[in-house]
Amino acid sequence: MKTQPRIALIKGDGIGIDVTDAAIRVVDAALEAVGSARPDYFEIRAGATCYAETGADIEPGGEERAGEGDAIFLGAIGLPSIRHADGTEISPHLRLRDRYDLYAGVRPVKAYPNAPQRLADPRAREIDMVILRESTEGLFYSAAVHGRAKVVGDEAVYDTLRISRGVTERLHRFAFRLALKRKARGRPGRLTCVDKANVFASLAFFRKIFDEIRPEFPDVDVAHSYVDAQALDLIRKPWEADVLVTENMFGDILSDLAGGLVGGMGMAACGEIGDEIGLFQPAHGSAPDIMGQDKANPLAAILSGALMLDYLGEKLDAPACSRASAMIEAAIEVGFAENRLRPMEFGGDMGTRAVTEELLRQLARRDAAA
Ligand SMILES: NC(=O)c1ccc[n+]([C@@H]2O[C@H](COP(=O)([O-])OP(=O)(O)OC[C@H]3O[C@@H](n4cnc5c(N)ncnc54)[C@H](O)[C@@H]3O)[C@@H](O)[C@H]2O)c1
Repeated sequence: MKTQPRIALIKGDGIGIDVTDAAIRVVDAALEAVGSARPDYFEIRAGATCYAETGADIEPGGEERAGEGDAIFLGAIGLPSIRHADGTEISPHLRLRDRYDLYAGVRPVKAYPNAPQRLADPRAREIDMVILRESTEGLFYSAAVHGRAKVVGDEAVYDTLRISRGVTERLHRFAFRLALKRKARGRPGRLTCVDKANVFASLAFFRKIFDEIRPEFPDVDVAHSYVDAQALDLIRKPWEADVLVTENMFGDILSDLAGGLVGGMGMAACGEIGDEIGLFQPAHGSAPDIMGQDKANPLAAILSGALMLDYLGEKLDAPACSRASAMIEAAIEVGFAENRLRPMEFGGDMGTRAVTEELLRQLARRDAAA
């Protein structure tokens, strides 16, 4: 590896702290197993507890420092009991998304053996897709945090759905490259543009740009679908989906729907990637109902750690990071298949520490076998 990766760590609140610690231990162990040094971590304090104790939702200079590493890893931020005077929650991480232009929201959805399966059809065991959610514009362009909605007294409220050429070109190229990468790893490499081009000019523009970029990637099979039909297909035949690229709000909804097919929040990993830096975090929140009880499933955070390693492998031209990433995913797959991973979230007997220790044991065995 040319350089040792530098990672900004924002543990945040509630179970965010425990699952970050778990993810870092597993990331370090996987890197050790492939003969690489652990990354250089620097911690940034942020979140609801930080706000309650210091009056600031992130430490001074924290937003700038977050961009100084090769990647950002975040646990979870927010506690419903700590709010701003207007009732909204503490969410400095949303500013990071804008500040670093993290347009590509990567949401892998994969079925693991012995993990909850919501569909009776046995083919549901084959679910393995990525939903790529644009994360800086779309209908979220006028999310409340930006104050861009137009309010006409108490009579009407208008939100804006923005699709811009610059962001959309980068998003679609990212999607095509992701499909190619998955194809190289044995997946179909099929990319579906999910929109509502039949009704909205903005989404017809989204599709037009997709079709303009398509000739640059002749080896990717492409399809188009309307979001309503796609929602139906995610229940009828989710095993056929490979990479879906879509607008922000559609991606928000479809990724939760798809995540529900393969377990729960404790399995939902997430990467938010821009051209300069990527932020990796479990999709769940701080889970105040179970915090401090060693009950949280750390696998979403650990899988986010694996996504981060895969990202670093490409960014730093460091194949060892990519190998460590694949090793973590394989350890989780085998752990479920052999019934050694039994998270409490799914009715099992293993809390945060036990799940983490089991993965560390497996990685140490691979290290010894290597
Ligand atoms: N990206 C983020 O940091 C993020 C995301 C969502 C919510 N939040 C914040 O987190 C706080 C709690 O929000 P919420 O309750 O709506 O969502 P949540 O994701 O924290 O919890 C929802 C439910 O899922 C369970 N759950 C979540 N993660 C789990 C895990 N790893 N293992 C086992 N069970 C898990 C919780 O116990 C709870 O019952 C709020 O302050 C919210 O604003 C932050």
